[in-house]
Amino acid sequence: MVHTASSLDCLRENGRIVAKVHRELKKLIKPGISTMFLEDTAKEIIYGERAVPGFLGYKGYGYATCISLNEEIVHGAPSHTRFLEEGDLISIDVGTYLDGFFGDAARSWIVGQPKNEEDVTLLRATRECLNRAIQRAKSGITVGTLGEVIERHATKFGFYVVKNYIGHGIGRSLHMFPAVYNYKSDDEGIILKEGMVIAIEPMLVLDCADNYVLDNGWTVVTANGKNSAHEEHTVVIHKDYAEIITC
Ligand code: MF3
Ligand code: CO
Repeated sequence: MVHTASSLDCLRENGRIVAKVHRELKKLIKPGISTMFLEDTAKEIIYGERAVPGFLGYKGYGYATCISLNEEIVHGAPSHTRFLEEGDLISIDVGTYLDGFFGDAARSWIVGQPKNEEDVTLLRATRECLNRAIQRAKSGITVGTLGEVIERHATKFGFYVVKNYIGHGIGRSLHMFPAVYNYKSDDEGIILKEGMVIAIEPMLVLDCADNYVLDNGWTVVTANGKNSAHEEHTVVIHKDYAEIITC
């Protein structure tokens, strides 16, 4: 949907808070801290900004953040007993809700020193996929083009995009029309228009992107046990460019 100028301002405010959470959490990432410490800090910042966590309560999800380590792709639940280790690949997804609108963004990092060069490349490739899609996004472009850009770039590195979790429109709901695929599909999808707001969120994996959900009903992990990275920004579509509102 196309948002009004005042709705866009609410979305920008949510984006600002999400970005602040990511900036602050990044400073805390080091071996030995629990993923629940990151969750608690995120909550503090969000409430401190007079917003509320956007994911908490969403379809029964119990936390403000999703924290997915290594082979976990998305929707990892924070835990008091899960401690970051040197070389872990951590993906943090944060959502906010303020003034009737949502904010949503995810960032991936390596804890301390990377275990191998492959993880570093995976992270870089995921960021580049997101950035390339954002650079292409503007009014008149189809969402299908964004998926094609993402998949083509991932393939250049020899990585695979996760296909069963995708980006989305965002506004008064966290997940709205349109679906924003991370891969080339036969369906070109809708044409982007000025004032639309979408969350673009590629997830990349080594060797094969097959995945399944753990018994907790949330955490999505790679079938091959290989690491995965996830980067997401919310952007406003303008006539000639996409404005990133979560950085
Ligand atoms: N960025 C993720 C998404 O859009 C976060 C959703 S987490 C949930 O799917 F817990 F709210 F589901
Ligand atoms: Co999202």
